[in-house]
Amino acid sequence: MPRPKVYVTHPLFEGPRAALATRCDAEYWQEPGRPPREEVLRGVADKDALICLLTERVDEALLGAAPRLRIVANVAVGYDNIDLAGCTRRKVAVTNTPGVLDETTADLAWALMMAVARRIVEADAFARSGAWAGWNLDQFCGADVWGKTLGIVGFGRIGRAVARRALGFKMRVLYADGQRAPAEVERALNVEKVEFDALLANADFVTLHVPLMAETRGLISAPQLARMKPTAFLINTSRGPVVNEAALVDALASGKIAGAALDVYEHEPQIGDGLRRPNVVLAPHIASASVETRTRMASIAVDNVTAFFDGRRPPTILNPEILG
Ligand code: GLV
Repeated sequence: MPRPKVYVTHPLFEGPRAALATRCDAEYWQEPGRPPREEVLRGVADKDALICLLTERVDEALLGAAPRLRIVANVAVGYDNIDLAGCTRRKVAVTNTPGVLDETTADLAWALMMAVARRIVEADAFARSGAWAGWNLDQFCGADVWGKTLGIVGFGRIGRAVARRALGFKMRVLYADGQRAPAEVERALNVEKVEFDALLANADFVTLHVPLMAETRGLISAPQLARMKPTAFLINTSRGPVVNEAALVDALASGKIAGAALDVYEHEPQIGDGLRRPNVVLAPHIASASVETRTRMASIAVDNVTAFFDGRRPPTILNPEILG
């Protein structure tokens, strides 16, 4: 049987690349930056598999351009870039990378939260500028994180990893989620389930950990921002469109909330000018970006592809019904 042909929209890392070479013939996008859409459409035209990043749109047009395609392995846990129903209709397997990036993403949510509360980015710029004339009582006073109320929106794996980090900070932790966590999880993490509106009204830090779906698009819009305390901060490491960016800009400009720390944006890679404020910390979608985690994510994508062509169930398949 000929070796399966795979188009990979990134050079990946050495380990996963070597693992893929043992089983498949892979063509890689090797240039810096993301491949243009036409290049992806050309690349998949004669391929059996696609390994892609969250920046590639896997839609009807792509599926139509890839008649041999059997599996799409997304190197991300979120898969809002993929038309899962369309893939399922065409019996194309879809996989993602759950489980390996929870702790790394929770680390970044905390890094952002602490950075915005304690004005780290502003203070760093000031310290570098050479303008520091010495210690002063009211210099760069920010907000405490410890002892405050943390509101976690979406209490899945990542939300829980964020909660676990709060244990050492003597915080009250609220969460909002359609589903109640098991009592032993609530006890161990010292968290309280509340209605979404109550979370918004009570939290000093609101951190978002929901996937992007029809129900979560614009979840944080003007009415939700209006419910938050004027001293509260919004942290987003989920997906940009979960927050209505124009409403957030208004809330920041009018002082409805104290600040924001963002890793994701409504129209990535564009970052609205209204977000470039001293009380906003901006990161370029790096929540899972540790060498260890990004390598693990690429390895999972490769494992899914090799399992599929070995006739095994891809470990993190999202549409197992196509396996028949
Ligand atoms: C990153 O945003 C991911 O979904 O893995």
